[in-house]
Amino acid sequence: MQSFIHLVHGDLTSLRLRLSSPPPPHMASLPSPILPSSTTQWRRWPAHPESSSAASAVVVGVKPAAYGFVASVIMSMVAGERMAEEDVLRFKAITEAGLAAAGAANRQDFLPFLRLLDFGRARRRLAGIAKERHDFGQRIVDEYRRRHRRRLAVAADDSSSSPPRRTVIGDLLRQQESSPESYADEVIRTVCLSLLQAGTDTSASTIEWAMALLLNNPDVLRKATDEIDSVVGMSRLLQEPDLANLPYLRCIITETLRLYPLAPHLVPHEASRDCMVAGHVIARGTMVLVDVYSMQRDPRVWEDPDKFIPERFKGFKVDGSGWMMPFGMGRRKCPGEGLALRTVGMALGVMIQCFQWERVGKKKVDMSEGSGLTMPMAVPLMAMCLPRVEMESVLKSL
Ligand code: HEM
Repeated sequence: MQSFIHLVHGDLTSLRLRLSSPPPPHMASLPSPILPSSTTQWRRWPAHPESSSAASAVVVGVKPAAYGFVASVIMSMVAGERMAEEDVLRFKAITEAGLAAAGAANRQDFLPFLRLLDFGRARRRLAGIAKERHDFGQRIVDEYRRRHRRRLAVAADDSSSSPPRRTVIGDLLRQQESSPESYADEVIRTVCLSLLQAGTDTSASTIEWAMALLLNNPDVLRKATDEIDSVVGMSRLLQEPDLANLPYLRCIITETLRLYPLAPHLVPHEASRDCMVAGHVIARGTMVLVDVYSMQRDPRVWEDPDKFIPERFKGFKVDGSGWMMPFGMGRRKCPGEGLALRTVGMALGVMIQCFQWERVGKKKVDMSEGSGLTMPMAVPLMAMCLPRVEMESVLKSL
C-alpha cells in the first residue's frame, strides 16, 4: 500500500472529463473518467457550482470510472504498474464474460448427454474465455519479466539505483527460481488473475452503490463533505492516512456493505462433515449458501433495516464477525478486505472532497439490484458532478 497515494494521484492526473448533457443510453457502458486532465477543460467549468445550470454539468458513469481506478490499484500491487486504459477494457470484458458464464445455468449440467454435442456451444464459449484469460495473465507475467531484466541491467551499470518495489509477481518469480515446479507460470498467472478478478468488480460496484445511496440521501453526503473538509481541509487532496480520521466516511462504507453486500450469498461452500446450524442438520457434502443479504436486513437485528443510516455504526466495531459478513467468515474469508476498505474509502473520499455530486434529473436513483454472481445495480449509475470551487487550485495542480 505504500504507493497507494501515488497511484491515486497518478490516476487523477490521467483522467479526462466528458462535458455533455445527459448521456445517450449506450454511455452507461463507456469508461467515463471522473477528473479532468487539463486546465483547459477546467476553465470550462462555471466559477461557482451554485450558479451552474444542469446543462453545464458533467454526467459520468460512476462504475466504469471506479473500475479503472480499482484495477490500477490492484495491478500496481500485483505487477508494480498501473493498468493501461485499453487493458482495463479488455480485462473488464473477460471478467464479465466469465461472471456471466459462471452465473448461467447450462442444460448440460442437468442432462449430461448434451455435453457430447456441445449443446448451446457452452464448451466452445468457455474455452474461448479461458484462452483470453490465459493470454491476458501470461502477458502480465511476461511483461513483468521483461521490465525486471531491464531493471537488473540498469542496476548493474548504476549502483545508486534504488531496489525495485515488492510486488506479488516479483515475490512469486523469486520463489520460482528455487522451486520451479510449485511456482510454475500457471500458478503465478492464476494468483494474479484471481486477485484482479476477485477485487476489481466487487470494489468498483461498492463505490457505485455507495455513491447511489449518497445521491438519494443528500444530508448524509453533506455530513461526509463536512467531515472531510474539517479533517483534511481544502488545500490538499485526501490521502490514505486520513482515512483513520474519517469515521463517518467509514460508517457510510459499512452501511453500504450492509445494504448491498456484493456477494449476497457469499460463494458456495460445502459442509466437510455433518453439523447442525440453527437446529437444522446439514449433512456432509451439502452445498451451503449463506444468505448474507437477508441477515444484514433482518428486522430482529437492525432497526429500520432497509434504511440507509450510517450513524448506526458510530462506535460500532465492524470486523466481519457477528451479523455483518459482507466479506465472508472463517478460513475462506476474503483476504482483500483491508485493501478493499482502503480503496473504496480513498475513491469515495476523493470524489466527495473534490466534487459536488447530484442526481441526473429529479427522480431518485433506481436502487434495484441486477442479477449476476456479484450484485450489480440493475440500472448503472450515471451522476452529475461539478468540481468544487474550493478545490480548484488543488485540482489544477494535479
Ligand atoms: C468491497 C470489495 C470486496 C468484497 C465485498 C469482497 C467479498 C468477498 C467474499 C464474500 C468472498 C467469499 C468469502 C467466502 O468464501 O465465504 C471473497 C473472496 C475472495 N476475495 Fe474478496 N471482496 C472484495 C474485495 C477483494 C479484493 C480487493 C481482493 C484482492 C485484491 C479480494 C480477493 C479475494 C479472494 C482471492 C477471494 C477468495 C478467497 C478464498 O477462496 O480463499 N477481494 N471476497
